[in-house]
Amino acid sequence: MHVLVTGGAGYIGSHTAVTLIERGHRVTIADNFDNSSPVVVDRIERITGTRPTIAAVDLLNKEALTNVFAADTPDAVIHFAGLKAVGESVAQPLRYYATNIGTTLNLVDVMREHNVHRLVFSSSATVYGDEQQPPYSEDGGHLNATNPYGQTKVMIERILADLAHAEPDWSIGILRYFNPVGAHESGLIGEDPHGIPNNLTPYILQVAVGRLNELGIFGNDYPTADGTGERDYIHVVDLAEGHVAALEKLATTTGAHAWNLGTGTPTSVLDVVAAFEKAIGKPIPYSIKPRRAGDLPQSWADTTRAEQELGWKATRDITAMARDGWRWQSENPDGYAGA
Ligand code: WQD
Repeated sequence: MHVLVTGGAGYIGSHTAVTLIERGHRVTIADNFDNSSPVVVDRIERITGTRPTIAAVDLLNKEALTNVFAADTPDAVIHFAGLKAVGESVAQPLRYYATNIGTTLNLVDVMREHNVHRLVFSSSATVYGDEQQPPYSEDGGHLNATNPYGQTKVMIERILADLAHAEPDWSIGILRYFNPVGAHESGLIGEDPHGIPNNLTPYILQVAVGRLNELGIFGNDYPTADGTGERDYIHVVDLAEGHVAALEKLATTTGAHAWNLGTGTPTSVLDVVAAFEKAIGKPIPYSIKPRRAGDLPQSWADTTRAEQELGWKATRDITAMARDGWRWQSENPDGYAGA
C-alpha cells in the first residue's frame, strides 16, 4: 500500500516508516520538522535502502495538505503529527487543542475529499486518566485524561468514533500507546527530544552521555513494590510492528476500533534504572525528588484485544529496550544535531 505517515520524521513515526518499508509498503512522510530533524530521512534510507517521499507541510495548512493528496493519493494514513508534552499542554492548552484537533480535522476532511478512508490514529494510555485501575482494557468505559494533551486524545478519539458511525466507509484504528522506549537495532534512529527530556529513559540516556548531571526520581513513596512509579514500557519497534498489524487489520474491518499497544508488564523506575545501568555498564547517579504532579502510581495494559484481533504481541523486554536505546544514544550523543 501507499501509506502517508504524518509526523513520520518523529520518534515513533520514523520507526513505523522503517517497518512499513521493510514490509513492502510505499511511504510518504508529511512533517513540518517542528519537533523532528530532516536527518531522520537519510537514516531511514540507510536502514531500508529506500528513501521515503517527503512532504514538508504543516497539517494546519489545509491547502498544502490537499496538494499532497492531489499529487499522490495514499491508500491509507497513519497520523502521528501533533504536540505531545504533558507539562507544556497544561501551560498552553489553547495551542494544544487548536493544533492537535485542528490538524486532525483537516486531515480527515482532505481524506474524505480524496476518498481515502483507512486511518490509524496515534492515541495514548493517558486517555484512561486516574478513574480506572490498571490493567487498562479498551472497553473499560469513560475516558478522562488529567491534562490538556491527554484531553486532545480523548476528544479526537470521540471525533473519529462519531465519523466512523456517520460514514460506514471509514475504517479507523485508534492505538493507545503505553510508554515507548528504546530504538532501532541499527542505532541510526531513536528518541531525540528537544530541550530537557520530560520522559524517564531519554533523561537516563542523556545522563549516561554526560549531557545531564543526575536523574531525579519523582517519588519513592508510592504504593508499589519498591515505592517508585510503575509503567508499561514497550520497545518502539514492537510499537511500530503494532501499527503495521493495525493497518493491515483495517483492510478487513469498518468502524472505529481502539487497541492498547503495551506489554502488559509493569516495571518500576528503579528497575528501569537498573536495566539501563546494566546496558550502559556504569551507574546512573540519581536522587529522590518529590512526586511529580499528575503522575499515577501504576499504569499497564490489558493486551488481550490486540493479541486476539491484531495477532500482535510485544516481544522485546526491558533489557532489549535498554540495550537498543543505549546503542542509539552512545552513537548519537547529541541526537540528530550531531549528525
Ligand atoms: C515514567 C515514570 C515518572 C522522568 C508520559 C505521558 C504519556 C505518554 C508517555 C505521550 C514515572 C518517572 C520520569 C524523570 C522520573 N506520552 N520519572 N524522573 O508520565 O508515564 O507518560 O509519557 O503519549 O502521555 O504522560 O512517562 O517517562 O514521564 O514517566 O522519576 O525525570 O518515570 O514519575 O513514574 P509517563 P514518563
